[in-house]
Amino acid sequence: MKRVLLIGLMALPLTAQASTPEQRGFQVYRQVCATCHSLDHVTFADLSGIGLAVADIKAYAASHQVPDGVDDDGDPKTRPARLSDSIGSPYPSEAMARLANHGDTPPDFSRLAMTEEGGAGRIETILRSYEPKPAGVVLSAGSYYNTAFAQKHIGMPPPLHDGQVTYADGTKATLPQMAQDVGAFLDWVAHPHRSARSHTGLAVLGYLAGLTVLLALLKHRVWKRVKENRQ
Ligand code: HEC
Repeated sequence: MKRVLLIGLMALPLTAQASTPEQRGFQVYRQVCATCHSLDHVTFADLSGIGLAVADIKAYAASHQVPDGVDDDGDPKTRPARLSDSIGSPYPSEAMARLANHGDTPPDFSRLAMTEEGGAGRIETILRSYEPKPAGVVLSAGSYYNTAFAQKHIGMPPPLHDGQVTYADGTKATLPQMAQDVGAFLDWVAHPHRSARSHTGLAVLGYLAGLTVLLALLKHRVWKRVKENRQ
């Protein structure tokens, strides 16, 4: 018994290092999707909501440059991003985003899991539904065969392939795994308060259950006394 406990305790630091799906999904966003997709309404500081260390978030912010007025010659200046800045877009303008993507604009990710019908599950399906183009199908330049759509194509090149990222917690980075993780991250991005809300809901339910028991006991006592008085 003691030995089991000891082994359990030794395993604790290892399990503590395991990252959450949202954290792994953020890694996929950062290393893959952020080349094209913006997070305009999410600040670097918001990332603490998925449990990232402030030092790591600061380093991530500092690797981004944001506009910072003009210098003495009137030329635009930039500075490293701060925690309060939004993560923003990889492109300086929407026109540039369209130009770089054959006329399609990569949608902003801030609320995509809310606005996309089917939410994070739909995003995951899209990422997993690229297939080789069947013979005879003609696609225009910048269009890729994808069975998740009625018209069977999308203007986004297949962004994921097996082993594309190396997860810090040792999780195998297969395409379905990365698709699921980035879906979890985008779900959190679009509904940051959902898990807090469900915790509050559970606490309220627990409180009400406790109250019910107390009231039942009280009722029992009161009626016992009433019955005793009648006799
Ligand atoms: C090379 C640029 C590029 C990369 C990298 C990229 N995307 Fe896209 N994405 C696009 C473009 C362009 C569109 C718009 C396509 C269209 O309108 O047909 C798009 C559209 C989407 C859509 C919306 C599909 C819809 O319903 O219309 C989703 C979801 C999406 N991307 C998810 C991702 C995820 C998740 C990643 C990272 C794993 C990623 N993208 C990486 C360029 C990119």
